[in-house]
Amino acid sequence: MSAKRKGITVSRQIMDDQLLHPQATGELTGLLNDLVVAGKIISAEVNMAGLADILGQSGRTNIQGEDVQKLDVFANQTIIRRMEQCGHVCVMASEEDDEIIQVLPGYEGNYAIAFDPLDGSTNIDVNVSIGTIFSIHKRISPSGQGSVEDLLQKGTQQVAAGYIIYGSSTVMVYTTGCGVHGFTLDPSVGEFFLSHPNIQVPVRSMYYSVNEAYADRWFDSTRNYINHLKRDGTGSGPYSLRYIGSLVADFHRNLIKGGVFLYTRDKTSGEKAEGKLRLLYEAAPLAMVVEQAGGRAITDDGRRILDIEPTSLHQRVPLIIGSKQDVDLAEKFLRGEM
Ligand code: AHG
Ligand code: MN
Ligand code: MN
Repeated sequence: MSAKRKGITVSRQIMDDQLLHPQATGELTGLLNDLVVAGKIISAEVNMAGLADILGQSGRTNIQGEDVQKLDVFANQTIIRRMEQCGHVCVMASEEDDEIIQVLPGYEGNYAIAFDPLDGSTNIDVNVSIGTIFSIHKRISPSGQGSVEDLLQKGTQQVAAGYIIYGSSTVMVYTTGCGVHGFTLDPSVGEFFLSHPNIQVPVRSMYYSVNEAYADRWFDSTRNYINHLKRDGTGSGPYSLRYIGSLVADFHRNLIKGGVFLYTRDKTSGEKAEGKLRLLYEAAPLAMVVEQAGGRAITDDGRRILDIEPTSLHQRVPLIIGSKQDVDLAEKFLRGEM
């Protein structure tokens, strides 16, 4: 990284991004900076979780029927508190809340945000990387409190998307449509500094990420593709399996090192007929990031994730995402061309 690019903070980069959008008003910049503050607060709590009696389950279950971890609740409340009073948001959707979340009266702004406050919840108590995923749209309702329509927009309409991964270090990766940048939190000064400028996902890789426990429930095209990778079908050596069980961590590794992640449909069960991952606040934001970084994101029946018209807040979608060549090859299998 050149000397003049050292010490670039995420706020400076967000400002630089704003300058790339002539019609920008500074609202999105303000929103993203408030999201950064939420990320810093959650990061501090995640790093103290073992000491602050915040591990374990909250005793609640969410709309997904999953046990809600205490840190899920903390992360969810932190983001809601920041967003409801930042003055740039008109409506929110969270994985942890069944319905849309309104903002404080008088603080309505021009953006809608959907988020997974803490992805990888099952990994919270065992010190494995977890993360926050966010997706931001410009509102389409005229004014005042936003509506579900402001949230149910195609992924191609996102104005910004990204994630914060709480791992060996806390890294924020985001895009506003002008490339993908990564920032690492320096906890000693409480600032995110540019550490991964202009991320480009390697065109191909040697890694695949999938939960092999479900192999018997995959459609044949998925199974044939995975076997092809495992048996050196690409001719560059057999692929290795890396599966952390936190989407945000598996995705981040594939973004940096290359790789393909799959969470596909389950041909045996109605409940996971569309897979497990949610479109609005998991698949669509990561699809924007990966496409901006030169990768691809499709479903296991060949649809581009960003083109899918959402019909409900928590709808699930099958996901194949990562290095372009790896996803291109998966597409050949699901089209029956291989
Ligand atoms: P969340 O913790 O937000 O509910 O997301 C968990 C997701 C995702 O992070 C991960 O890829 C997937 O669950 C793992 O599911 P399996 O345990 O079925 O592999
Ligand atoms: Mn999640
Ligand atoms: Mn979650």
